Amino acid sequence: MERRLTHAGLTSRMRGGYLRRHVLSLADFETLAEKRLPRPLFGYVSGACEDNQSLHANRSAFSEYELRTRILVDVSTRTQECTLFGRTYSSPIGIAPMGVAALTAYRGDVVLAAAAQQANIPAIMSGWSLVPLEEVAEAAPDTWFQAYLSKDRAEMDALVDRVASAGLSTLVITVDTPAQANRENNVRVGFSSPLRPSLRLAWQGLSHPRWLFDVFVRTLMRQGMPHFENWHGGRGLPIISKRLNVDIAQRGHLTWDQVSAIRKRWQGRLILKGVLSGDDAAIACDRGVDGIIVSNHGGRQLDGAVAPLRVLPEIVSSFARGPVMIDSGVRRGTDVIKALSLGAACVFIGRPFNYAAAVGGAAGVTHAIDLMRQEISRDMAMMGVTSIHQLDPNCLYPISPGPCRA
Ligand SMILES: Cc1cc2nc3c(=O)[nH]c(=O)nc-3n(C[C@H](O)[C@H](O)[C@H](O)COP(=O)(O)O)c2cc1C
Repeated sequence: MERRLTHAGLTSRMRGGYLRRHVLSLADFETLAEKRLPRPLFGYVSGACEDNQSLHANRSAFSEYELRTRILVDVSTRTQECTLFGRTYSSPIGIAPMGVAALTAYRGDVVLAAAAQQANIPAIMSGWSLVPLEEVAEAAPDTWFQAYLSKDRAEMDALVDRVASAGLSTLVITVDTPAQANRENNVRVGFSSPLRPSLRLAWQGLSHPRWLFDVFVRTLMRQGMPHFENWHGGRGLPIISKRLNVDIAQRGHLTWDQVSAIRKRWQGRLILKGVLSGDDAAIACDRGVDGIIVSNHGGRQLDGAVAPLRVLPEIVSSFARGPVMIDSGVRRGTDVIKALSLGAACVFIGRPFNYAAAVGGAAGVTHAIDLMRQEISRDMAMMGVTSIHQLDPNCLYPISPGPCRA
């Protein structure tokens, strides 16, 4: 298997049939993406921060539970449909927001959003993105938009108004970035923001010709130098601008007041992403937030931040206004089953969808969604449930002591 997943193997056959035969799980996409992408880009996507404690904890939290099956239930007909904010989706999975997705796949933001729309699952477009949000909204009008809080009230208002004018109805505010994370891994692999042209970077491009021509050269020729298109109400800086760090670094003084200000201005659904405490979930409830995504940013912000699965039950019981969703470390259908059993309404997945877009474009993302759907459906049958609403803490057997024991 490993031998067949080579770069050469991809060039002629990387489309639906090939994917179905050779990409059997989300993990297989990572193997392929590592070969396809220049080292700094792969490192940026796969990496976390400092010692990767949270990155690993996100996975191990799922193995702290085993599954308690029920037998001899008629599971011949089952549905994994999930309803969020009155809308029914085909599956309880979604695509998490990922910055600069258009550097790993050509027009990556559109690819991810359109594949999700077609599969009828939610996708969140990152505010740190290189495709104007209006173009994504046109291709996939149900996309959710993620923004970071801005220090400048007028800039934030302009962005919120712009998202509304584009017709998007769900705004996700990420709140776990009061300081820039210590991404030592980025330094080691040569990823920087702003992007600094260097001989090392040039060699990485030349030694990954498929990425160089399919993504980078094609983008330069058709769209020009990528800019952060959705940073404020208007176009942001180019990815090579030296002013970039100054522009994104200052968020330390932001508080709940900014959330309230957005709540006042934004008529659509408002979701907070990056909540890890029941107390904060209760405040969010009071401030009129409609939904929560329990997340530690895939372990990319504070190393040692608790794995979201461990605090999920606490947050579910503190937030009554709407759905509590989760991301970080979800890779298998059984992970989805465990998160739903602990009260999650939906589960978002990050890196694997980025890899899927990088190696297979839209077909890759569609295949990744199909893989997860098949796993969830099979797991539901084995569990003896016909609908995700039958999942509850009784479906789990905690194998280590902890605050989220069912
Ligand atoms: C390459 C990359 C870029 C990301 N960019 C953003 C972002 O712009 N905004 C955001 O809220 N979260 C961002 N995240 C975090 C994801 O939304 C999500 O929380 C995380 O990837 C989930 O963990 P997983 O990758 O283990 O599934 C990013 C994650 C990755 C891997």
